[in-house]
Amino acid sequence: MLVSSIVNLAYLIGAIAFVWGLRLLSSPDSARRGNVLAGIGMGIAIIATLSTPLAEGDNNYLWIMVGLLIGGITGWIAAKKIQMTAMPQMVSVFNGLGGACATVLALAELTRFYDGVQVMSTGQLSIALFTLLIGAISFTGSMLAFGKLDGMIKDKHVILPRHGLINLVLLIAVLVMSVWLAIQGSAAGLVLALVFLILALIYGFSFVAPIGGADMPVVISLLNSFTGLSAAAAGLIYGNQIMLVGGILVGAAGTILTVLMCQAMNRSLFNVIVGGFGSASLSGGAGTDGDQVAKVATVNDAAIQMFYANSVMFVPGYGLAVAQAQKTVKELDDLLEANGVDVKYAIHPVAGRMPGHMNVLLAEADVPYPKLLDLDDANAALKDTDTVVIVGANDVVNPAALDDASSPIYGMPVLEVWNAKNIIVLKRSMSAGYAGIQNPLFFHERNRMLFGDAKDSIQKLVTEVKNM
Ligand code: TAP
Repeated sequence: MLVSSIVNLAYLIGAIAFVWGLRLLSSPDSARRGNVLAGIGMGIAIIATLSTPLAEGDNNYLWIMVGLLIGGITGWIAAKKIQMTAMPQMVSVFNGLGGACATVLALAELTRFYDGVQVMSTGQLSIALFTLLIGAISFTGSMLAFGKLDGMIKDKHVILPRHGLINLVLLIAVLVMSVWLAIQGSAAGLVLALVFLILALIYGFSFVAPIGGADMPVVISLLNSFTGLSAAAAGLIYGNQIMLVGGILVGAAGTILTVLMCQAMNRSLFNVIVGGFGSASLSGGAGTDGDQVAKVATVNDAAIQMFYANSVMFVPGYGLAVAQAQKTVKELDDLLEANGVDVKYAIHPVAGRMPGHMNVLLAEADVPYPKLLDLDDANAALKDTDTVVIVGANDVVNPAALDDASSPIYGMPVLEVWNAKNIIVLKRSMSAGYAGIQNPLFFHERNRMLFGDAKDSIQKLVTEVKNM
């Protein structure tokens, strides 16, 4: 009795740590503390769960310890070795494994039920089937998202003709089957439950397959909320409050993020899911666009434009993460500020490969948070900006999103950098960005390309500015 009360108290403390941790995660200044606090909450929850009194002999401590060791060591090594640029892939894998965990838990309970070892009411059976379904979708969907983010799997390789129809049929099949299994109870048998699981796994893969290009942020957040939902449902199966609370928090955070990402892309969720963005025929550029040729700047030209400007706005994108140029950008920012230049950063909500990617990198370089402008504030400020410096961004500054109805990113709000007096783009070549499309900005009359690795180019600009 006393132990149960202590366990419940520990769950409460763990839940408070999750909520507080999430609160701290909302600002780059406090995000690190938030992460640590939520981690401590999870540690408390694990210890409390392990201490939960069980019937005599009904424990699996050996299995649990082996699992904890294998999972802990693998996670630790992966976290140590992972490159910052591969973080989005790692998040996708973690997400998928969360879904897989919920599926395995549900499957274990269902096996006991169909073997007659355990009784389940229709309500409990429905929850177990729901956990199995959502967890399985989240698992295969996240694994495919991982492959796409990593570049191992190209959108066009996983899309079938009439994919929308295939998905609809699969969705109806899994939904009808889940209701049927819930009504049939134990009469349905384990084999049919396994068929249901396989269908759910296929649907997770098939559902993510046609979504690609610039719509990936939405599907990643959606999968995140699915994992949270499956964990919450697994918490219901076991009557475990901390699992329920943790799952609800992840599910709610993922859902809010999905809504925000849809807003950032100016697309409805339905449109993203049935739109098949990745199936559009896409083309990258090669230095020219028809008769147009992109103008090139020298390091000296770019340094002069920045040094004598009243205001400079950096636009970081995925290339900043690849080049790991954030600290060098901060060094250049400090030099310019010392010369009286007003320096700001324009942050597009889907710049990079994961939500908040640019904020994390700039926080790591100690760029003060007030210098970061969101999409609307940046667009308002760009009209009065002398020089805008685009550091490895491409899709998020593509004017085709506003003026080319045939473009796959048409309708997505972008940073209107062409309103600034001068534009400098730092990238290695004329290659396309994630959406795989040409960017007319590069041929704009006020734009100059400064080719090279972003860190290298910024380092050269730093040297040049120091000599002025
Ligand atoms: P992108 O459109 O992907 O463009 C990045 C550019 O960086 C590339 O054109 C590349 O050109 C350049 N680059 C790469 N390495 C570089 C280096 N070392 N130095 C200099 N430049 C380098 O990036 P973005 O503008 O940030 O847009 C993000 C895209 O990813 C959007 O389409 C978005 O929808 C999608 N996406 C976002 C997320 C989230 S949640 N943020 C998740 C999945 C997908 P070069 O090769 O010529 O250098």
